[in-house]
Amino acid sequence: MNNFLDISTTSKEHLRSIIDQAQAMKTARNGRPKGTPDDDMPLDGRMVALIFEKPSTRTRVSFDVGVRQMGGQTMVLSGSEMQLGHGETIADTARVLSRYVDLIMIRTFEEATLLEMAEYATVPVINGLTNRTHPCQIMADVMTFEEHRGPITGRKVVWSGDGNNVFASFAHAAGQFGFDLTFTGPPPLDPERDALEFAASKGHPVTIERDPMRAVEGADLVVTDTWVSMHDPQSAKERRHNQLRGYQVNAALMAHAKPDALFMHCLPAHRDDEATSEVMDGPHSVIFDEAENRLHAQKAIMRYCLGL
Ligand code: CP
Ligand code: NVA
Repeated sequence: MNNFLDISTTSKEHLRSIIDQAQAMKTARNGRPKGTPDDDMPLDGRMVALIFEKPSTRTRVSFDVGVRQMGGQTMVLSGSEMQLGHGETIADTARVLSRYVDLIMIRTFEEATLLEMAEYATVPVINGLTNRTHPCQIMADVMTFEEHRGPITGRKVVWSGDGNNVFASFAHAAGQFGFDLTFTGPPPLDPERDALEFAASKGHPVTIERDPMRAVEGADLVVTDTWVSMHDPQSAKERRHNQLRGYQVNAALMAHAKPDALFMHCLPAHRDDEATSEVMDGPHSVIFDEAENRLHAQKAIMRYCLGL
């Protein structure tokens, strides 16, 4: 049994085999009608709890569909409707759920909640996003890059905008998969030091370049995300827009990257804030492949967790 808590805490070898298995499972499904089960049903008879303390479209639907395609069943639980939101400890919740289900995926606020769930659960736990990281997303992003451009090792990835939870998982991935990552954004929204230290400790320090035009020179991939995350106070919105306006991914910025650079965004997007619709719907964009690959990547992550 394995947890999938972060890209930084999963071995390089396991990360690689998850991506390769995800791609193989995607290929095997090609041409099959939507909604039909896979040939292989490794989750037959298994129950998966999907806990959400924050909203979700992609994570919720892709995990739910992924479990069903592999022959398992799901239970989608909203944090606020569970005793979790009314004083029961995470540890007790973890112990109880472990008596009923075979796997737990949780999207929550504090990383401590995820870690406590993993510590006390006797079944594997998957991180479906915390305030600090979003590892399932970046597994799908690495898979998407490689599907379009081959191995990501040694390539240049540029993040423009807020140094948030999705960026932190990119920094972990830079260290584990061995790519060059540049962050461009205003100093108040710099990434957390831990994520930068992890990438540096693996020999792939993140470059910080305040000028977005210079940052994207030679980029194979340009990435951004919302300027205001779910855990950020809504009161920060106006200030963030003022701080980040110059880091919008638009056609002028993409013109400074390599001609065949890809553009990614984990979605949901605020169109024409962090990225223009021209870029999101343009020839560089692979945003919907990214969203699709959440399904395939997470199916492989669940198999890894359950040793199937
Ligand atoms: N990208 C992502 O995790 O989307 P949701 O918030 O819709 O799950
Ligand atoms: N950074 C965003 C990602 C959403 C998928 C958030 O945490 O709200």
